[in-house]
Amino acid sequence: MSYNNILTSLEDSILTISINRESKLNALTIETLREIKHAVDEAQTNDEVHGMILTGVGEKAFAAGADISEFAHFNIEQATRMSADGHDVMNAIENGNKVVIAAVNGFSLGGGCELAMACHLRVASTQAKFGQPEVNLGVPPGYGGTQRLVQLVGKGKAMELLLTGDAIDAQTALNLGLVNRVVEPAELMSETRSLLKKICGKSPSAVNKVIKCVNDYFRPNVNGMQREIYEFGEAFETPDFQEGTDAFLNKRKPNFRG
Ligand code: COA
Repeated sequence: MSYNNILTSLEDSILTISINRESKLNALTIETLREIKHAVDEAQTNDEVHGMILTGVGEKAFAAGADISEFAHFNIEQATRMSADGHDVMNAIENGNKVVIAAVNGFSLGGGCELAMACHLRVASTQAKFGQPEVNLGVPPGYGGTQRLVQLVGKGKAMELLLTGDAIDAQTALNLGLVNRVVEPAELMSETRSLLKKICGKSPSAVNKVIKCVNDYFRPNVNGMQREIYEFGEAFETPDFQEGTDAFLNKRKPNFRG
C-alpha cells in the first residue's frame, strides 16, 4: 500500500516508519494515525520484519501532537471517535508481537508523546522535547497520555506534567524514566537500530511473552502473575526453548527462529 503521510523502509529485517509531514512538525492527522496502524498491523504478520522503529522526518519533530487544525471544529461525537480510534492505534503498537522502538528526534508533544509512550522503548536525541500540552487547548490528552505517562513516570510527576502542560528536555525525560536512552542527534538512528538488533537476536517467542506479561501488569482484572506462570509453561514446548537451552548446554550461540 502507498501512504500519503508516512514513509516506510525495510532494511536488515527492521521496518522504519517515518512520519512525513515535516512542514507541520509531523502533526498527526487521523489519516496519519490510520497509516501508522496499517503499517504496524501489516508488519505483525510479515516474516521479513523482525522489529520496528518509529520516527519523524526532519530534525525538528518526532510529532508535535494531533493535528489541531483538523480537530478544532469537532463535536462530541467526532472527538470521541477520534480518541477511540487513536487508542486503537496505540494499543496495536503496544500489544503487537514485534518490538517497536520510538526514535525521538525532536518535539514529542501531545499525541506525539502518546505515540512514543505506546512504543516498547524510547531512544531520544538530545534535541527531543516531551510534553502533554493539551491543557493549553482546553482538553485532556486523548490518546492514552493520562494512563501511560503515569505508568512510565509515576503519578506525582505525571500529574505535574499533565496539569502544567510543561515540556521537558531529553535528559529530564531520561531521569524520569520516560525514555530509555539519550544520544546525540547524529547517532539516533544507529543507536536505535543497534538496540533493536540486540533484541531481535533474542528468542522472538520469549520477547513476545515478555511483552504480554509486562502489559498485563497494567490491565485491570487481569492477573499478571498468573499470565507469567502460563507463558513460562507454554514456552517449554516452543522451538526457541529447545534451541536456547541446547545452545547453552553445547556452548554455542543460539539461532532462534521464533
Ligand atoms: N497541529 C497542527 N499543526 C501544527 C501542530 C499541531 N499539533 N504543531 C505544529 N504545527 C504546524 C504549525 O501550525 C506551523 O504550520 P504553518 O507553518 O502552516 O503555520 C508549523 O507546524 C510549524 O510550527 P510552528 O509553531 O511555526 O513552529 P515553532 O518552532 O514556532 O513551534 C511548537 C513549535 C511545537 C512549540 C509549536 O508548533 C506548538 O506549540 N505546536 C502545538 C503543540 C501542541 O499543542 N500539541 C498538542 C496537540 S493535541
